[in-house]
Amino acid sequence: MGKNQHSINLSSQGTALKSLFTGYLVVVAIGYLMAIVQIQFTHGMADGKLGLSTDDIVYSYYGKRSGSTLEAKLNGSMKMMAPEEDRLKIINWVHKGATEKSFHDNGIRRIMDDSCIVCHSAASGMPVPDFTKFENIVHVSETDTGASFSSLARVSHIHLFGIAFIFMFVGLIFSLATGIPVVLKSTVIVMPYIFLIIDIASWWLTKLNPHFAWLVIIGGGTMALSFAFMWIVSMYEMWIMPRIHEDDRDALLDE
Ligand code: HEC
Repeated sequence: MGKNQHSINLSSQGTALKSLFTGYLVVVAIGYLMAIVQIQFTHGMADGKLGLSTDDIVYSYYGKRSGSTLEAKLNGSMKMMAPEEDRLKIINWVHKGATEKSFHDNGIRRIMDDSCIVCHSAASGMPVPDFTKFENIVHVSETDTGASFSSLARVSHIHLFGIAFIFMFVGLIFSLATGIPVVLKSTVIVMPYIFLIIDIASWWLTKLNPHFAWLVIIGGGTMALSFAFMWIVSMYEMWIMPRIHEDDRDALLDE
């Protein structure tokens, strides 16, 4: 490397800074894996089958317009929460018009009390509808139009702030890599931001039109790819690639 080589590069950093970067990268990678597991459990289960598909994304954002949230959840992520027989009783109650009278007469109240309100009550502190109140149950038994605009707005802003922040530091560390041509490097750095916006825009678009579901997968997939690329290159340059040059400060830090 010539004299014009930027003097701050990953491979020649002191062990202390490399350890800090590595600690951060490892924790963020575990966080990323957890996010993927969580997506499998919420969106991945939307069609009742494990694994994320475009159907899942359509059901989550656009909704199952032929049925209710309650039924969709009982066939999806809430499938395990009640015995089969009780589950079918609730679905049956929804099909028959979800009246308050049959709610009590057919034992739906009891099923909810036994199987659901552990989590679905104000006392549990979980951010889920409170099923001790009948009106909340009626509300979820109406036609499923997918994620509400208010929940989309909430999740969108959390994602925009949170993910931008994560990619700020991952990108900053990766920007000190030397083995990657600058055009490719800048592309990989900026890609997650572009696809973050596309990903989030595609949630809203899918809410309006189910055909956009594939865009959600492309957006999320491209972000994950850029993350993996930056992660692997940064780790490689810090710990495997030979040092490019030692400056005095670096030698001091190491000894
Ligand atoms: C262990 C805790 C737990 C139990 C028990 C539970 N739920 Fe849930 N429920 C959740 C969580 C967490 C969510 C939000 C994540 C999701 O949608 O999968 C949720 C979401 C829902 C939703 C979607 C609410 C909305 O507005 O999007 C419905 C409907 C639902 N549950 C129905 C039920 C029913 C019916 C039962 C009982 C048979 C039940 N749940 C039992 C934790 C629970």
